[in-house]
Amino acid sequence: MAITIKSEREIEIMREAGRILAIVHEEMEKALKPGMSTWDINKIGENVIRSYGCKPSFLGYNGYPAAICVSVNDEVVHGIPNKEHIIREGDIVSLDAGVIYNGYQSDAARTHACGKISAEAQKLIDVTRQSFYEGIKFAKEGNHLHDISAAIEDYVVAHGFSCVRDLVGHGIGREMHEDPQIPNYRQKKKGPRLEAGMTLAIEPMVNAGRYDVCWLDDDWTVVTEDESLSAHYENTILITKGEPEILSIRK
Ligand code: MF3
Ligand code: CO
Repeated sequence: MAITIKSEREIEIMREAGRILAIVHEEMEKALKPGMSTWDINKIGENVIRSYGCKPSFLGYNGYPAAICVSVNDEVVHGIPNKEHIIREGDIVSLDAGVIYNGYQSDAARTHACGKISAEAQKLIDVTRQSFYEGIKFAKEGNHLHDISAAIEDYVVAHGFSCVRDLVGHGIGREMHEDPQIPNYRQKKKGPRLEAGMTLAIEPMVNAGRYDVCWLDDDWTVVTEDESLSAHYENTILITKGEPEILSIRK
């Protein structure tokens, strides 16, 4: 499938989807406390999504059973919320959420500290978030997609961590997953040329140890193979002729 270029009307809708998703993340961050379950945080996120008249895009996607992915410590992504899984002080918690507003999608993820965490865990969270910003320095018309991939990996590796290779970012619009796929590590080819009007979900997943991951028996939860900590940071962005516009943060 070709990479879709959004019209000004579509972009306006995706801006609103992104604005709402940013609020969903703010509310989940405020609510996150030791002693609550991963199911509790999912419910809070789902309620905020619905309060804005949006649909949680993850719920039912390929059979996924919840609105939010909640991935704790060595869980990389796609952790399934569970009433029995209590979040404890010292955990790092990745929250990934998607909304559909007026037929258009927004997708974003954040990793938070629960209470006091180790210096190493805080560095992992900070490097993961910053790697997104390093990547999008190259996200503008005329550059190539894999300029973003290389910038993310270079930053992460320079700080002693590794980028997950088995999962990638993606185009986004009417569908959650559109072309192109966006790897978070250096590629041999340049990738497609970026054009104004492309909307992309860029989402580095960064491991404190090696980049290898495996899937749990629930067929969803992705964990680090070496059991090291992992963090995730994602935003939906718009490519323009100049600086990219981050749609899923509050301005
Ligand atoms: N944000 C994710 C992604 O980019 C997670 C979606 S998985 C789902 O692919 F099944 F939970 F929807
Ligand atoms: Co995504």
